[in-house]
Amino acid sequence: MSTRGVATPGVASVVMPGGVTACYAVAMHQAAIDSAYALLRRAVMTYRGEPVGTVAAVAPAADGAVNYQDCFIRDFIPAALVFLADGETRIIRNFLLTVLDLRAQHQRVQGHGIEPAVLPASFRVTGGAPHKQVIEADFGDQAIGRVAPVDAMMWWVILLAIYCRRTGDRSLAQDPTIRRAVKDILELSLRESFEVFPTLLVPDGAFMIDRRMGVYGHPLEIQALFYGLLVSADGLLRPEEPDLPLLDMAAKRAKMLRTYLQMFYWLDLERLNEIHRYATEEFGAGSVNMLNIQPESIPDWVVDWLPERGGYLVGNLGPGRMDFRFFAVGNLLAILFGIVSCQHAQAIMTLYQDRCEDLIGCMPAKLVYPAVIGKEWQFLTGSDQKNVPWSYHNGGNWPVLLWPLIAAALRSGRGDLAQFALDLADHRLPGQHWPEYYDGRRGNLIGRRAQLNQVWSATGYLFAHKLVEDPALLDLFAVIDHQPHSERASV
Ligand code: GLC
Repeated sequence: MSTRGVATPGVASVVMPGGVTACYAVAMHQAAIDSAYALLRRAVMTYRGEPVGTVAAVAPAADGAVNYQDCFIRDFIPAALVFLADGETRIIRNFLLTVLDLRAQHQRVQGHGIEPAVLPASFRVTGGAPHKQVIEADFGDQAIGRVAPVDAMMWWVILLAIYCRRTGDRSLAQDPTIRRAVKDILELSLRESFEVFPTLLVPDGAFMIDRRMGVYGHPLEIQALFYGLLVSADGLLRPEEPDLPLLDMAAKRAKMLRTYLQMFYWLDLERLNEIHRYATEEFGAGSVNMLNIQPESIPDWVVDWLPERGGYLVGNLGPGRMDFRFFAVGNLLAILFGIVSCQHAQAIMTLYQDRCEDLIGCMPAKLVYPAVIGKEWQFLTGSDQKNVPWSYHNGGNWPVLLWPLIAAALRSGRGDLAQFALDLADHRLPGQHWPEYYDGRRGNLIGRRAQLNQVWSATGYLFAHKLVEDPALLDLFAVIDHQPHSERASV
């Protein structure tokens, strides 16, 4: 990528690899920021007079899903980061406690014996006048497709750790109910199962991609969040003697998980060459191709697409299965949480640079690359009309990804890439009313069924801006990006 400098006063032009020129007005920043804050203020959800969260979209389209009036746990994360950076901490504390209280509603989800550690995907406030208000949670029992929000409990613990460190509010972490909840979540996610891997097994649609997309098994995003959960819990529970066995288990798992992700999920040209020449049907301790990946399963696109110096973590891995698709959130969180080495973080950023049109495009950034099409689309998505190729989860571009992209770029010393991505967003996002997602290979069309005034598009943008202005904010993630007390524990 090269920056060509200022062409006319106040207007700079950036040349993307491949020669595509994007123009943007430098002065647009302030108007864009004001517009994002205005949306955030309208989005705040109150319960009996207290701010407790933010709705997913302000004034969502009447024909859209009704639950865009809900506060989603994952959607609130960038809002919480903005509030934290601004020193507005009350709403975060309320959110953390409210979500926890909602566990009492889990019995409503009948017949499945849902664990109390499980947290809802979202909640809503109904009832009008403050004293009549009620709060209702959706544990996936109402969501389209009835999907299990496994990421909610992970984000909750991560946010709790970030909040406690930033505010110094240790009273929250030491509250017995909170401690019990953190331990319940750890116990649930560390419970012995039929698994042989350190990764966590989840059903389809258990995270941001909350629809059928062939993301069951061991999707990268869940593994990155799982690591974040394990390390954050370590920091929250540490000093208490009775917690030590559980913490040791968490620490060992975090260490094994990180090593496993680094070794087995990593893909670059060297590794692709190894897989291309893999022997199969190997048995026992000495096998190299332990998961029995068939070299013939390497898709054609990846061979041409993987640049000489770049690399990334593949999307999913299991017996006989490697999903070669690039999933942005998992890769970016892996950088931000220190799961990958500095060298691999650089390689992921090089991939972003060399495949800028595919992964950043006109509106940062692509959620998954490439889209699945044809029979594969029919088979993996169940012919999902919302996830048609190059739309929504199936190859759409999501403005909310600006914050993890920019955070990962800054952490890898790629301020140039961070600035480039932000400038693209300045240019279009506010004027187009903060769409939820964009369509097209390059993300140049507003998503056909995208909500407008999507709150995490605005808060992701705001937090991205704050990071570029003050990269010291990366310190918020220092609760995760360190070796857990674990490195004491031998695997
Ligand atoms: C969609 C997204 C999900 C998000 C929700 C609310 O369902 O897939 O990740 O949390 O909308 O914005």
